[in-house]
Amino acid sequence: MFSKFFATFVVLSTVMHSIPVLSTPLSDEVAELRLDPTAVDRVNTLSSDSQFVFNFLNPPAGVVTGAAGHTVTATSGTFPAVVGNGIAMTIGFLGPCGINTPHTHPRATEINYSVNGTLRAGLLTENGARFVMNELPPGSMTVFPQGAVHFEMNDGCEPAMFVAGFNSEDPGVLSVAQRFFGLPIDIIGATMGGLGVKEVEGLEAMIPDNVAVGTDACLKRCGLHRPPAQPTAQHQPRGSGNAFPTGTVY
Ligand SMILES: *[C@@H]1O[C@H](CO)[C@@H](O)[C@H](O)[C@H]1NC(C)=O
Ligand SMILES: *[C@@H]1O[C@H](CO)[C@@H](O)[C@H](O)[C@H]1NC(C)=O
Repeated sequence: MFSKFFATFVVLSTVMHSIPVLSTPLSDEVAELRLDPTAVDRVNTLSSDSQFVFNFLNPPAGVVTGAAGHTVTATSGTFPAVVGNGIAMTIGFLGPCGINTPHTHPRATEINYSVNGTLRAGLLTENGARFVMNELPPGSMTVFPQGAVHFEMNDGCEPAMFVAGFNSEDPGVLSVAQRFFGLPIDIIGATMGGLGVKEVEGLEAMIPDNVAVGTDACLKRCGLHRPPAQPTAQHQPRGSGNAFPTGTVY
């Protein structure tokens, strides 16, 4: 084990060269675990037995919430015991017709188990590959290869739960629409065949937070109505090179 002082120094120097991350006790702990020379040292660094437990029903962090449900994620960012083990887990609580909007995991393949709902799961691995679509009844699972664009929707009228396992302790997530519409507006406009600022602004401002309200067909079947507005806080911040032109009301 390395000294706490050295671990803190590494955290601080990393922070100074990257995005601003507060030096919390958790990041100190992760830094120390990453410096431990062996797995034995990592077990000893986590000196309390309870540090090996993550409670998805009462999580310390890692919750992502939208209008139609939430997910809870245990990765190296929320659960230091996974450091060095190459594994992580997400539990999803999808409301009726809730959709986990299209996204990719840049550093992990995922296996995804439907606990008690029927879920529509689609995936697209890369240019040239065919689109794969499945219904996952309770008790079944599917695989989303690393980097594949995928989405999943609870096609039922009751809340549903899924368990997703990742072969990385830091799988990452890139939400397709939330990120694409945060690129520079002239680039988006050109990619879409010549849309202007107003059209792009209008589209971007509509993208709901994950977990979002799903398809009209599901809502109709369940006797539900699309809410007039959903939260939209997860879109890409616009600051410098991707800012809207001065005077755009956003
Ligand atoms: C797992 O699959 C379900 C339904 O197929 C989906 O709603 C969920 O978003 C998936 N989990 C992750 C972490 O992608
Ligand atoms: C599935 O499990 C979740 C979590 O326990 C629960 O909230 C939900 O009502 C269950 N859904 C069904 C269809 O049993």
